[in-house]
Amino acid sequence: MAKNDVPSSLLMASLVLSVWAAAANGHNITAILDSFPDYSVYNGYMSQTKVADEVNSRDTVTCLVLPNAAMTALAAKHSLAAIKNALRLLVLLDYFDPQKLHDIPLGTTLTTTLYQTTGAPGKQGFVNITNVRGGRVAFGPSSPGSKLASDYTKSVRQIPYNISVLEISAPIIFPGLLDAPTAADSNLTALLEKAGCKTFASLLVSTGLLKNFQSAMDKGLTLFAPNDEAFNADGVPDLNSLSSADLVTLLQYHALLSYTPKDSLKLADHPISTMATGSSGKFDLTVSSQGDDVTLHTGVDSSRVANTVLDDTPVAILTVDSVLLPSELFGHAPAPAPAPSSLPPSPLPSTPAPAPASKSAKAPSPLPLSPPAPPSSSPAASPQAASDKADVKNSSGAAELVRSLATLIAVAVAALWLLLM
Ligand SMILES: *[C@@H]1O[C@H](CO)[C@@H](O)[C@H](O)[C@H]1NC(C)=O
Ligand SMILES: *[C@@H]1O[C@H](CO)[C@@H](O)[C@H](O)[C@H]1NC(C)=O
Ligand SMILES: *[C@@H]1O[C@H](CO)[C@@H](O)[C@H](O)[C@H]1NC(C)=O
Ligand SMILES: *[C@@H]1O[C@H](CO)[C@@H](O)[C@H](O)[C@H]1NC(C)=O
Repeated sequence: MAKNDVPSSLLMASLVLSVWAAAANGHNITAILDSFPDYSVYNGYMSQTKVADEVNSRDTVTCLVLPNAAMTALAAKHSLAAIKNALRLLVLLDYFDPQKLHDIPLGTTLTTTLYQTTGAPGKQGFVNITNVRGGRVAFGPSSPGSKLASDYTKSVRQIPYNISVLEISAPIIFPGLLDAPTAADSNLTALLEKAGCKTFASLLVSTGLLKNFQSAMDKGLTLFAPNDEAFNADGVPDLNSLSSADLVTLLQYHALLSYTPKDSLKLADHPISTMATGSSGKFDLTVSSQGDDVTLHTGVDSSRVANTVLDDTPVAILTVDSVLLPSELFGHAPAPAPAPSSLPPSPLPSTPAPAPASKSAKAPSPLPLSPPAPPSSSPAASPQAASDKADVKNSSGAAELVRSLATLIAVAVAALWLLLM
């Protein structure tokens, strides 16, 4: 049976995702369009690209739908990633019924769309709606002087003031909209480098994880790529001090084995499993959102999801502003790594505290992992030595905390005793 071949984590992830989708309340664009055979091609692509989920997660939207002939013409020449961009530009994040369309103040306006939420520069993700002569309403790209080549043709359905569905004659296209990178012909490292994530890209290469990510691209992959500044931010531990197993775990923590673009993340009301999540669970992320801002929380830090670099079902590459630090590895104050030579000798007998490091190293990986090579730039004599040092640092930190707490209590007791005398 083919189903048995699907890694269970993948199955779990998709199950959880479909539960979230079903939990989203309000309208359902797929169900609305099901009763209009004229838009069946459009409806099919809305589901296939998951733009339907994005529409359903919004309280107030207007969908500009294309009749079958126009949609077929658009789809024939373009990749799914390009079609997705085109569909997103047809979802206005405001409620326009026919009346409002004809009553636009001053006869022309720019309105934002779902495409803008992917991190489009400037007003690229806006569309121009203009009342032209003879009661005609026309749509076009937002750039000044654009041709308004798409006409409002008829009203399809309204649920005031949540969703309005209007038919238009042609897609709204600006130059470059349909040049979306596709997963199939993408060089992952080149894409990441171009998006300002050179450090992340080079770590994927040096650890050998790139191959795992590439092989996951057929079935479902979402990457949260920290930009280069994120790796230099305060509080980010020195990656050279991590064992290579922990480094691999940290990188896997930035990947999901499912297709979860930004708007699908918003629907997440459960912690989401990452590629670092083993059979014991853990290494998960929680998601919060406010409007179009999506934030990932690790328990140690949080990061905003910034731009969409690639969105081609089933692959999404998103940039994040901060390195995601899993609490399983960094729960005990990551503290900017002091120079190894200045480490005080540990005053405690080395307690056999269960180091999260060794646990994560043994956690079963959902994909066959090629043996991780130590980062080429690592000055550590051996990855194990580096991890031992990290453990020493942690236990001495704990000892210091205990000592200062003890001192504090002693001082407080003494003060109280003096007061009572
Ligand atoms: C929306 O409607 C379609 C069919 O009309 C259905 O398959 C789908 O599960 C619905 N989605 C939600 C989130 O209820
Ligand atoms: C919309 O496009 C038309 C034609 O290019 C232009 O005259 C009008 O100023 C634009 N409207 C806005 C609000 O930019
Ligand atoms: C419109 O959306 C609001 C907020 O999501 C919801 O409470 C309301 O029931 C919806 N109205 C209709 C008619 O579905
Ligand atoms: C992908 O791009 C990187 C750098 O941009 C380059 O070094 C590598 O050779 C490319 N890989 C392929 C398969 O083209």
